[in-house]
Amino acid sequence: DWTMANVIDEQVDHIRETVGDKHVICGLSGGVDSAVAAALVQKAVGDKLTCVFVDHGLLRKGEAEQVERDYVAATGVSLKVVDAQERFLNALAGVTDPEEKRKIIGREFIRVFEHAAAEVVAEAGAHGEQVEFLVQGTLYPDVVESGGGTGTANIKSHHNVGGLPEDLQFKLIEPLRKLFKDEVRAVGEELGLPSEIVWRQPFPGPGLGIRIIGEVTADRLEILRDADAIARDELSKAGLDREIWQCPVVLLADVRSVGVQGDGRTYGHPVVLRPVSSEDAMTADWSRLPYDLLARISNRITNEVREINRVVLDVTSKPPGTIEWE
Ligand code: XMP
Repeated sequence: DWTMANVIDEQVDHIRETVGDKHVICGLSGGVDSAVAAALVQKAVGDKLTCVFVDHGLLRKGEAEQVERDYVAATGVSLKVVDAQERFLNALAGVTDPEEKRKIIGREFIRVFEHAAAEVVAEAGAHGEQVEFLVQGTLYPDVVESGGGTGTANIKSHHNVGGLPEDLQFKLIEPLRKLFKDEVRAVGEELGLPSEIVWRQPFPGPGLGIRIIGEVTADRLEILRDADAIARDELSKAGLDREIWQCPVVLLADVRSVGVQGDGRTYGHPVVLRPVSSEDAMTADWSRLPYDLLARISNRITNEVREINRVVLDVTSKPPGTIEWE
């Protein structure tokens, strides 16, 4: 019968049989799907799996550490971390157009991942092992959306920074192909993964790169990370983080307005709160968060993040507004 424990056992057997004595590679994004898929494969084949985490510097506060420290501690997975923060910042310097940002981030991601994958292949080769498989966290809705096809490594590449070029010569292992998101979370919990990862809200592949309206710089990323961490903290203290679909915090980096903070006039930036309710992200409505929660978030952000002197609320449904601002 269909319990998560059975799903795990069945997948573990199946993966073990498929992999045999070959080696497996998996890219971790920080999101729940790749984390659960990799944990299943790790449970099945242990050290025959190498995970690669490309730190592009566009994740939120604490997320890279959750992968590098907490996830590794929970799973024992063998992880290769690539610190590509400088590289992404350099590639994004001077760029303000949203589509261009997405293209650059996607392109750099593939280059860095390919380079790391080649290293994994070489290292495995030195131990007489052949890397034959790539793990992907494809879910059932992704399978349906892409016509049920298999065998290619670029499912959803139009939308996912984690999408990989087809000329990566790996066969795919997709242990979540029959599961919906809530089942993936249940499997993740059953496997003992950190709850910050299991319950992470949807987060775009290009990350904070498309939540800074204007050029992406190290300083701006830090400002946005601080503001976003406060919003997430208050949402989860209010017990609403699992109820809403997601709440992007967007930095209007090229907009300034006058304020009074502390003992003087300031000329700072606004952030936008974009809390939405949704079933599938195709349509969404703005979440009617309690006023006192909004007030706490606003007070804390303007008190604790010096560069921000105004917090505004996005009250647009989708359509016409998309969830993200870029
Ligand atoms: P929009 O802004 O189009 O977003 O209403 C719909 C959902 O998709 C997420 N999103 C992305 N997810 N790669 C992803 O994996 C992307 O490039 C990307 N862009 C948007 C967004 O957070 C929302 O959940």
